[in-house]
Amino acid sequence: MRLVILDNASDVAEWAAKYVTKTINDFQPGPNKYFVLGLPTGSTPYGMYQKLIEYQKAGKISFKYVKTFNMDEYVNLPRDHPESYHYYMWNTFFKHIDIDPKNAHILDGNAPDLVKECLNYENKIKEAGGIDLFIGGIGPDGHIAFNEPGSSLTSRTRVKTLAQDTLEANARFFGNDVSKVPKQALTVGVGTVMDAKEVMILINGSHKAFALYKAIEEGVNHMWTVSAFQQHPHTLIICDEDATLELRVKTVKYFKALSDVHQKLIQENETMERYRTLH
Ligand code: PGA
Repeated sequence: MRLVILDNASDVAEWAAKYVTKTINDFQPGPNKYFVLGLPTGSTPYGMYQKLIEYQKAGKISFKYVKTFNMDEYVNLPRDHPESYHYYMWNTFFKHIDIDPKNAHILDGNAPDLVKECLNYENKIKEAGGIDLFIGGIGPDGHIAFNEPGSSLTSRTRVKTLAQDTLEANARFFGNDVSKVPKQALTVGVGTVMDAKEVMILINGSHKAFALYKAIEEGVNHMWTVSAFQQHPHTLIICDEDATLELRVKTVKYFKALSDVHQKLIQENETMERYRTLH
């Protein structure tokens, strides 16, 4: 596992956007070779999306030959509700970039048959050739996508009932009224994310420090679903200083000493070699 520790959330956003840009460019996508991205919503990736829009407008990256699959969506929330993840993705990112809308996939939380919707989603990912880079955030309880504490670490895309902690954390988006937060969501499983060739997780803030500690310094445990990625061959966690508060000094020093190596991961022109080591 790689842990990249940066000063603050805006550095995390910029680093992540540079990494995505370089990874897609190294892949050299084309009409017969699409790059497949897994994407999150939430406050954490917002800055990364802003940077990616900026890079696309500056001609540093194109999403023309990129397919995306979002992690999750609320059940029974209208698509045009400002808190739906459809709304977030289109307004925060997709409408500002050159992606073909038919290549941007988001689970339909209003589908008549939710089980079928989840199964179809897994099939669509498979048909796209699997996910090359899955980007995620986590909750303070260590959930990845909506894989709440106790989720199977081999789970696939499915309907999930949200934990009280998640409802309370998301109430801020629903007028601070926890009763207005949808109680269920469709979400990719931990197993779905584990199948990606590479996983990049963004973690900011002291409120997520304990989850980062559980993800890195303790064992794999379904009560902290993010810890599953200890067993993924290419996990990259990007965090800010505040998120490291519960880590041992020894752990922080070790990963900070690698900052030169980490910097190379986003340098332009050192391209194909790193890519080859991943595939
Ligand atoms: P956040 O949400 O980025 O808004 O903190 C992440 C999550 O709960 O998965």
